[in-house]
Amino acid sequence: MVLLPYLCAAMVSTTSLRSERVSSNLPGTSRAVAIWVYTGVIMLLIQVILGGITRLTGSGLSITEWNVVTGAVPPMNSAQWQAEFAKYRATPQYQLLNSGFTLADFKFIFFWEWFHRFWARLVGVVFLVGFVGLIWKRKMQPWMVRPLIILFLLGALQGAIGWIMVASGLTGDAIYVKPTKLALHFVFALGLIVYTFWFALRLSVPDSAKVAASGEGRSGDGGPKTAARAGSEGRGGFQRRLAVLRRWTIVILILLFFQLLYGALMAGLKAATAAPTWPTINGSWIPAGLFSERPLMQDVAGNKITVHFIHRGLAYLLLVLVGIWSVLAARITGGGGGGSPIFNRLRWLPLLLIVVQIILGISSLLTSPGIVPQQWVAFDWLAQLHQVTGLLFLLTMVGMLYLVIPVRHTVYSVTV
Ligand code: HEM
Repeated sequence: MVLLPYLCAAMVSTTSLRSERVSSNLPGTSRAVAIWVYTGVIMLLIQVILGGITRLTGSGLSITEWNVVTGAVPPMNSAQWQAEFAKYRATPQYQLLNSGFTLADFKFIFFWEWFHRFWARLVGVVFLVGFVGLIWKRKMQPWMVRPLIILFLLGALQGAIGWIMVASGLTGDAIYVKPTKLALHFVFALGLIVYTFWFALRLSVPDSAKVAASGEGRSGDGGPKTAARAGSEGRGGFQRRLAVLRRWTIVILILLFFQLLYGALMAGLKAATAAPTWPTINGSWIPAGLFSERPLMQDVAGNKITVHFIHRGLAYLLLVLVGIWSVLAARITGGGGGGSPIFNRLRWLPLLLIVVQIILGISSLLTSPGIVPQQWVAFDWLAQLHQVTGLLFLLTMVGMLYLVIPVRHTVYSVTV
């Protein structure tokens, strides 16, 4: 979270919505729309963090209904609280796990689930008010409308998936939501953030700031070094190295998708305590019980040991790939100075983030035996930070992909 404003500011300031060079590249782009969309990205990140806190405090099943409008108002008097508490007391989670809960305990978990849902509503309101206001002020351009409508629909769908997830924890003898449904909710949230962030990049980062533009031999921000190298090696050499870097970025993003999915399964299965050891998994590199359940799909999504094995394995693989990516990125920019300034500034960030992410993952694992129900302990801090850093890492890689894709040479100029 600390790095996000830096990331956004770097995107906005380096490519500069203020700079004349850039605004001439994006003649129709509105600064107001870009700021609004970046606000959406930050609000969605806060939404995911609130989701993490809701999960870690065990609050997710405290509200047993889904009322889009009336649910915005929490219970206001003692009778309403008692009525809500009575509905919770009818759930399997209360009966099998939390039967000792007082009203005060219930109010605590209710707050986090309510706030998570309230924030989602706020995101929707900021979106709708901004959308109408920007059209009214004639800041919006025709090409922006379609992605924004898709975004709104995705947001509404995510709300519905959230409810499907909650409903999976209210029936039978379920005391938590289904891990696969939690993973679906989490992955969908990531998709929503990535889609919004990509849109924000399109609004704020002009083609001239992309790495591809720096290889076209221009001498402006690309610097004489890059231009000279592009001249001596030929544009073909530069484009080849850029294509390689682009492919690595895509491969990393695909693996990262699976890694984040497995992170969500780790969280949903509460798998940390099943093997709180590192570097081995319960003393073995190939632990007992690995791939032991049938059918295989059940094993890879539900066997805690298999999920550990895959989540850890993917982490190490990603570390190696991001290390190589950083070297390729350094080669393309010539070790600093030339190339795309924003890319130069941020190209070590993926490596830094993945190292921090792995340290946080290991630390949360090792502190998991100290988990205390209904208390926020070291494990919860570390797990929450691990989740946020994973998101920042994803957004950084998406930003890097944006910078290494070919220039579009598109001009958007008509205002609605
Ligand atoms: C590329 C590296 C990694 C990424 C991107 C990543 C990502 C994530 C994410 C996003 C979550 C939380 C999902 C959610 O809140 O729904 C998670 C959970 C978890 N990860 Fe990782 N992870 C990485 C590496 C590791 C490593 C190396 C370990 C340990 C050796 C680890 C251990 C855990 C544990 C124990 C959880 C569950 C925490 C909980 O119950 O809240 N992770 N991971």
